[in-house]
Amino acid sequence: MTNTLLITGGASGIGAETARRAVALGYRIAVNYRSRDGQAKALVAEIEAKGGKAVALPGDMAQEADIVRLFTETERALGPITHLVNSAGIDPVRCRVDEYDTATLERLFAINVVGLMLCCREATRRMSTRHGGKGGAIVNVSSMAATLGGRKAASAYAATKGAVDAFTKGFAREVAAEGIRVNSIRPGAVTTEMTQDRLSDTAVRDAIAASIPIQRIGEAHEIADAILWLLSDQASFITGAMLDASGGGYVI
Ligand SMILES: NC(=O)c1ccc[n+]([C@@H]2O[C@H](COP(=O)([O-])OP(=O)(O)OC[C@H]3O[C@@H](n4cnc5c(N)ncnc54)[C@H](OP(=O)(O)O)[C@@H]3O)[C@@H](O)[C@H]2O)c1
Repeated sequence: MTNTLLITGGASGIGAETARRAVALGYRIAVNYRSRDGQAKALVAEIEAKGGKAVALPGDMAQEADIVRLFTETERALGPITHLVNSAGIDPVRCRVDEYDTATLERLFAINVVGLMLCCREATRRMSTRHGGKGGAIVNVSSMAATLGGRKAASAYAATKGAVDAFTKGFAREVAAEGIRVNSIRPGAVTTEMTQDRLSDTAVRDAIAASIPIQRIGEAHEIADAILWLLSDQASFITGAMLDASGGGYVI
């Protein structure tokens, strides 16, 4: 059977790197994107040039109708979804708790938490043996922020990732006997478009690197490889786990 992998927020960063590396493993890949039409299509062309099969599918992972449509369109294009990576996420302008506004918090939770949970619902309706599916594997992209409450002024972002981890543990138990494995990955600081502004300040970059036991910022492919391992049969007895891909965590 050919495996079909859907990656939300797959046009850039960790999601895109996961797609690139999944080609060699034989997955058919659906690359979801919100605003990055050009990047998503270029990635699909790159995958096809390597002999892979991929589609770029738009959809806002904060909108339930878009999520439902994304799953339907993925299956129409590539066949039954066997693997899901929830990488779509935002880390908006950082500020202290006393500066937060409701709209910012609602958007943050709508994408990082509620959208991710709805994607897991759609996956379960297709993968679960309870619904006639053949099982599957899911990786939710969390963050090391979930463990320590985040770096300075990132408590709201950290709260969303804490929710992702708690949800992943409970969800994994709910569907463990139905053929679905679910794990979360907790990247530490990684060079992507999400972090490029912050990391372009050399002093900030050096301070972050110094706070990580391995003494450097991570690269997207180092997270992608761990995600693909969690999705693979090599991780067949692992579910409800949080894998830290973080160079040893961080000291703040
Ligand atoms: N980089 C790090 O240091 C780090 C560390 C820990 C965890 N993470 C997590 O890793 C995941 C991937 O982030 P990244 O570092 O690879 O950064 P990235 O390149 O910014 O990737 C995030 C992707 O999510 C997409 N996205 C955001 N909102 C969306 C929505 N509503 N619907 C669909 N797609 C949406 C973005 O596209 P648009 O811009 O078009 O919305 C973007 O392509 C995120 O969940 C992030 O929280 C990153």
